[in-house]
Amino acid sequence: MVTPITTRQSIFLGSGAYLPERIVTNLELEAMMDTTDAWIQERTGIQQRAIAGPLETTATLGTHAARLALTDAGLEPSDVDLIVCATSTPDRTFPATATLIQAQLGIPVASAFDVQAVCSGFVYAMTVADALLKVGQAKTALVIGAETFSRILDWSDRTTAVLFGDGAGAMVMGTSVAATSQGRGLLAHALRADGRHADLLYVNGGASQGGRIGKLKMQGQAVFRHAVGNISEAISVCCAQAGVEVDDIDWFVPHQANRRILEGVARRLNLDEHKVITTVMQHGNTSAASVPLAFDLARKDGRIKIGDLVLFEAMGGGFTWGASLLRL
Ligand code: ACO
Repeated sequence: MVTPITTRQSIFLGSGAYLPERIVTNLELEAMMDTTDAWIQERTGIQQRAIAGPLETTATLGTHAARLALTDAGLEPSDVDLIVCATSTPDRTFPATATLIQAQLGIPVASAFDVQAVCSGFVYAMTVADALLKVGQAKTALVIGAETFSRILDWSDRTTAVLFGDGAGAMVMGTSVAATSQGRGLLAHALRADGRHADLLYVNGGASQGGRIGKLKMQGQAVFRHAVGNISEAISVCCAQAGVEVDDIDWFVPHQANRRILEGVARRLNLDEHKVITTVMQHGNTSAASVPLAFDLARKDGRIKIGDLVLFEAMGGGFTWGASLLRL
């Protein structure tokens, strides 16, 4: 008998993360451009970032993270039947990076595609995977956030080059019958976009416009002005949908764009700052990879545990933004 879709719940099974070996400190950037460690730390909190080596790509970083997530979940690649990869820096215009990761992992049959919502990509990808799991399109999903933003940076532009890094994170999601999941699983999502702001944060190239990859352009102050309000609204809506209070949340795993944005959201919603996972100092802004990277780090260091209520949130180019709530 087919299980009615309303009784399925998407539950967390495992996570993994991978950073390139090459670390670039602020001091190294001082030698490359007109900037200082003090400016970068004061305005952003960033101390260092990892940068992909010449043979590394978004797919190879994503494959590493996915393999670790599968090991964490105690599963084999062949158990996966859905791969959703959030990225704005795909290896190729097509096919999707998710299919390249599928091939590198040796997953025989699965549906696989990319989600492009810039820094909000992982929250969008989790929402899409949750929906497909709930309707029975798949049983086990790999949700990946992987980026090589170093490849789309203008290294002569100090206003953007100091902010970003490369990396990947992944989560394995399975399904359970809601009645036996003991409240575990993805509980609610709030996704948003406002395309009127596309020119505030974009890459000035693309297959259909100019035919070259292009470089990242950002009006940082204007983005900053929208960030705290947008993120706070999405968090409030997500909590209301799940019927929980912001105070009930054990951990906030935000997109790591700037420490001042994280502090601004915490102040606006009166969050306990000790509940906010912050990795921007070590990772910089890794776009769609930042949420799963931060989540995996806090799980592996023992802070986030099974049974905890975890809120993921992000905002990025588009603008896109959103929040997802997971009972681990
Ligand atoms: N080193 C030294 N000085 C710098 C640097 C640098 N790397 N970059 C800029 N400056 C200078 C500017 O030229 C300016 O100088 P001026 O006063 O002589 O004109 C001064 O520092 C101040 O510049 P601001 O842009 O006003 O600095 P601000 O405090 O706004 O910080 C920042 C800039 C860090 C980019 C901030 O605006 C920010 O974090 N914005 C949000 C970024 C974000 O959240 N992005 C969304 C996600 S990313 C995505 O989706 C891909």
